[in-house]
Amino acid sequence: MKEINLTTKISVYLLDECTETEKKLIEEAKRATKNAYARYSNFKVGAALLLENGKIITGNNQENAAYPSGLCAERTAIFFANANYPDEKIVAIAIAAYNNGKFTKDVITPCGACRQVLLEVENRHKTPMRILMYSKEGVYAVNSIKDLLPLSFGDNMLK
Ligand code: THU
Repeated sequence: MKEINLTTKISVYLLDECTETEKKLIEEAKRATKNAYARYSNFKVGAALLLENGKIITGNNQENAAYPSGLCAERTAIFFANANYPDEKIVAIAIAAYNNGKFTKDVITPCGACRQVLLEVENRHKTPMRILMYSKEGVYAVNSIKDLLPLSFGDNMLK
């Protein structure tokens, strides 16, 4: 029997330690929570994408009375970017969540389905994406979705 150990390095920053570009992206993600349509969970998530051309795209979660018909903030933003800027690489994403009248104390991390979509974006553009996960107490950062999705299934498997 053999064992494989998978490790993930996550950098943890105070907001002040982030670069100006990162702070701006996080600010936009926080701002995007305001327009979330989260009438069932009241958990408002905002995502902000930085495109290679410097443009920032935001999105938020969109819920539905038929629960599975809703969509997370990350995928709302990514699908908008893919639909409108298909050739533009996405170099970073920031995520923030607002719940019970405040931004969350724990970092907001992308759900499994969003991780899979983020992987597709990285593979499509052959560019790793910096992922900034915000909380009131600090920011978790990784340099690729692969850090959050070990043993991932991607297009390489279909060859
Ligand atoms: N949600 C997101 O938008 N992004 C995440 O990363 C986690 C969860 C949304 C989905 C649903 O509208 C609400 O948060 C509660 O799960």
